[in-house]
Amino acid sequence: MIILGIETSCDETGVALYDPERGLVAHILHSQISLHAKYGGVVPELASRDHIQKLAGLVENVLAKAGIQKEALSAIAYAKGPGLAGALLVGAAFATSLAFALNIPAIGVHHMEAHLLAPMLETNAPAYPFLALLVSGGHTLLVKVQEFGKYAILGESLDDAAGEAFDKVGKILGLPYPGGPNLTKLARQGNPKRFKFPRPMTNRPGLDFSFSGLKTFALNTLHEYGDDAQTKADIAYAFQDAVADTLRVKCKRALEFTGLKRLVVAGGVSANIALREKLNRLVKEQHATVYYPRLEFCTDNGAMIAYTGYQRLLHGEKTASLAIEIKPRWEIDSI
Ligand code: KG4
Ligand code: ZN
Repeated sequence: MIILGIETSCDETGVALYDPERGLVAHILHSQISLHAKYGGVVPELASRDHIQKLAGLVENVLAKAGIQKEALSAIAYAKGPGLAGALLVGAAFATSLAFALNIPAIGVHHMEAHLLAPMLETNAPAYPFLALLVSGGHTLLVKVQEFGKYAILGESLDDAAGEAFDKVGKILGLPYPGGPNLTKLARQGNPKRFKFPRPMTNRPGLDFSFSGLKTFALNTLHEYGDDAQTKADIAYAFQDAVADTLRVKCKRALEFTGLKRLVVAGGVSANIALREKLNRLVKEQHATVYYPRLEFCTDNGAMIAYTGYQRLLHGEKTASLAIEIKPRWEIDSI
């Protein structure tokens, strides 16, 4: 059995082949960073057009890389949502059409469920149940995962997602898009003792997040202390430390609240080293274990879509419909 996975929910075109017996067979990722960089963020229409231009060629390439004919495919999984409507439509239309031509199922996958399951592609995959911290550009979620497909949201961001906050503060500091990884590099030059940013919503009960205030705090600090290179690096450090520490506090609370001993951290921000250091320390204190995807599968990719599609198929999901279906807004607890 071989599943083709297609990811086109935002600014990355990802394709992958997953074989339940052999694991991940091949994967290719095309990033649109250079396309959007001069606009300082993702331009949805450009994203859709680029997916259209690249997708068919990438699918051909990934099949060639694995030495597999398209007729050997068993199913095609694609990111059905949440994400940019136009970008999602490209993957959905391509996957549904190719699946129809090959007479195999097309499976629409929830993008955040795919992030959540990305650590399952590693050799030390977590067992169920576990707690999941999902930190991407569009979402910040704490999810109790009882078993595959059973997701209860324990907390979420009331405003900006963690990755979105990284991107916006990166922009404030004059860094190129995407802000997250660039801000992380700048923070390495920062003086840890210079500024201390607030840890939003940690001094009251609950598991929700709010990151938009940190953006204002960064902007005000920049205005007050000047925008020389060292001050910018110090702000980058203090901001990153505040986000990572806030996520740590909420994970600690959620582990204690649920009694779970396994923590999965996934989505673009799970690549952040400062966050990983804090969470690694936390799980040691809690006698728990933390699981991350490999670095390249923290951000968007086709491998997590192919794996999730396989799991959906395994659990009896059937999509024989010829309708091209997307869900730009889609809660993970309503899959
Ligand atoms: O999961 P992802 O690729 O896309 C969404 O589903 O949104 O996440 C992208 C987000 C961006 O906001 C990006 O700035 C952030 O993840 N990101 C990081 C790092 N790498 C990516 N944020 C902090 N530190 C990083 N190393
Ligand atoms: Zn994502």
